[in-house]
Amino acid sequence: MTIVPAHTECASLPIERLGREAILEVVANEPSAPTNADTIIAREFHMATSYRLAPIAENPERVGMGAPDEIGSPIWQEDWSIEPRPYKVYLDLRPIPLPRSFAPTRMSALDALSRRGDEPSATGVPDLQALARFGRLSNGLLERGMSRRQGQPIEFRTAGGTGARYHLELYFVCGDLPDLEAGVYHYAAQDHALRQLRRGDFRGALVTATGEELAITHAPVVMAMTSTFWRNAWRYKARAYRHAFWDAGTSLANFLGVSASLELATEVVLGFVDADVNALLGVDGEREATLALCAVGRNATPAPRVTALEPIAHATEPVSSAEVTFPQIPRMRAASQLHSRAEAAVWRGNALHRSLVVNSASLTPLAPTETTQLTIEQAILARRSTRHYDTARRVRFEAFSTVLDSSARGFAADALAANAPPLHDNYLIVNGVEGKEPGIYLYHPGARAIELLRYGEFRQQARRLAFFQDYAADAHVNSYYLADLESILERYGNRGYGVVQLESALFAGRLHLAAHAVGLRAVGSTSLDDEVVEFFSPRAAGSSYMFVTVFGFRRSRHEP
Ligand SMILES: Cc1cc2nc3c(=O)[nH]c(=O)nc-3n(C[C@H](O)[C@H](O)[C@H](O)COP(=O)(O)O)c2cc1C
Repeated sequence: MTIVPAHTECASLPIERLGREAILEVVANEPSAPTNADTIIAREFHMATSYRLAPIAENPERVGMGAPDEIGSPIWQEDWSIEPRPYKVYLDLRPIPLPRSFAPTRMSALDALSRRGDEPSATGVPDLQALARFGRLSNGLLERGMSRRQGQPIEFRTAGGTGARYHLELYFVCGDLPDLEAGVYHYAAQDHALRQLRRGDFRGALVTATGEELAITHAPVVMAMTSTFWRNAWRYKARAYRHAFWDAGTSLANFLGVSASLELATEVVLGFVDADVNALLGVDGEREATLALCAVGRNATPAPRVTALEPIAHATEPVSSAEVTFPQIPRMRAASQLHSRAEAAVWRGNALHRSLVVNSASLTPLAPTETTQLTIEQAILARRSTRHYDTARRVRFEAFSTVLDSSARGFAADALAANAPPLHDNYLIVNGVEGKEPGIYLYHPGARAIELLRYGEFRQQARRLAFFQDYAADAHVNSYYLADLESILERYGNRGYGVVQLESALFAGRLHLAAHAVGLRAVGSTSLDDEVVEFFSPRAAGSSYMFVTVFGFRRSRHEP
């Protein structure tokens, strides 16, 4: 691990242009296999950042991180004097204030969560009000529930985040909007304002960087989401790279819910030339790097070309006075890059279609009949993480069904096939649902049914898997996301690692909001990686743990 002095942002190389015909020609000559086929790096990263039991006499529940023969502490958090700031603060740019109150939308939260983003009815046009909603409701401050850590206030965000170690930033690359001139803007959570990083229409730079992805070409606005890894790695070491994609998926669940409620078309775009997008935003790509783009809205006319891109280097406040590098992060990041437009276009061109095994004799159809009066903005602003569940109550089967069904319809994304099953499998530990025997189930979103794998009372195993956190035992349902990493890496290269983490977390983020919408509560968790896979085996054999969210009826903290 290396300690380096903090410095301000710097931009990298300008983008050179290729026309669409030239791209297609290059693409036609490219091999269709992933170009970064050396996926040992992702597999080693997963192993090096896996949590496993490392008991000692004084603490039989001690958890460590790493490969079995190289287990270290899972937490860094050693030097509070360099605790990172949770905000990116531009020093010299004028804030453009955003509206703080929003007219209520009409769509129910459950409908908004069920949208994929590519519905023909999504004909809305983004404006400043929409950007204000996106900023506030997917990466802004909750403006309530402040608490303290080491005497310092924590300002919670509208989207949950691992350990409240917030590290995401949002940027908007806009053409001329009805009430905002074209430019590249940063959304600042701390003062709920935009700052203009570039003036003029630079969407064409993203068209090029994505290898002419159609949704980007015709989007009036493209959102770019970055992570400043150190802001999370300060506590979680290299596992922060996983968290980057978990938290991005969680935040995108909010973002897509908001866009659906405004009838805005969206496509999440994960195939892009990293260096070119980072240069456009003026971020260094090492300490702060782009994780995902999202095209917002549809224009008939394509974005104009950008022929030259000057570097930008707006001064920012240092994140902390010194930073620690955990080498697994830059290694994984470097191995996941796309280097050319042609590579980006090929990478997304052949989405994985999994064929699933369904044991129809053990299927129970869901009954997703629950409704809600809440809008998505109400659900987001009411959402918090809940760690106390009422084991005396049972969740109605209809509510359980609705939470699962409205959170698993998928989302339009460049690298994911529409109408294909998700990249992950969703295993459930059911502890307290009316009419359902406790046990382990596998959810099949396509069949809108759950498949029984094993009856049994697994509360204590649930607690152990979720890092010995009691709430997993008490919660009515534990919703585990696992994936066959091998086939995903084979198809998407090392970049597929982030893709499947983000996809799983986005489903889980929607599940959290859907739980709120039907009067339940939820919380994400981290887990003992390999033990999770063993627990769900033989069905899950060969899979890897991605993520878990639990949900159920809240118990007041003061009740016994
Ligand atoms: C990806 C993810 C993993 C999380 N893991 C845990 C966990 O293991 N234990 C826990 O108590 N909370 C966990 N949380 C909840 C966060 O601590 C919580 O989101 C954060 O403190 C902000 O609080 P809020 O969700 O109430 O806004 C997780 C949240 C997310 C999004």
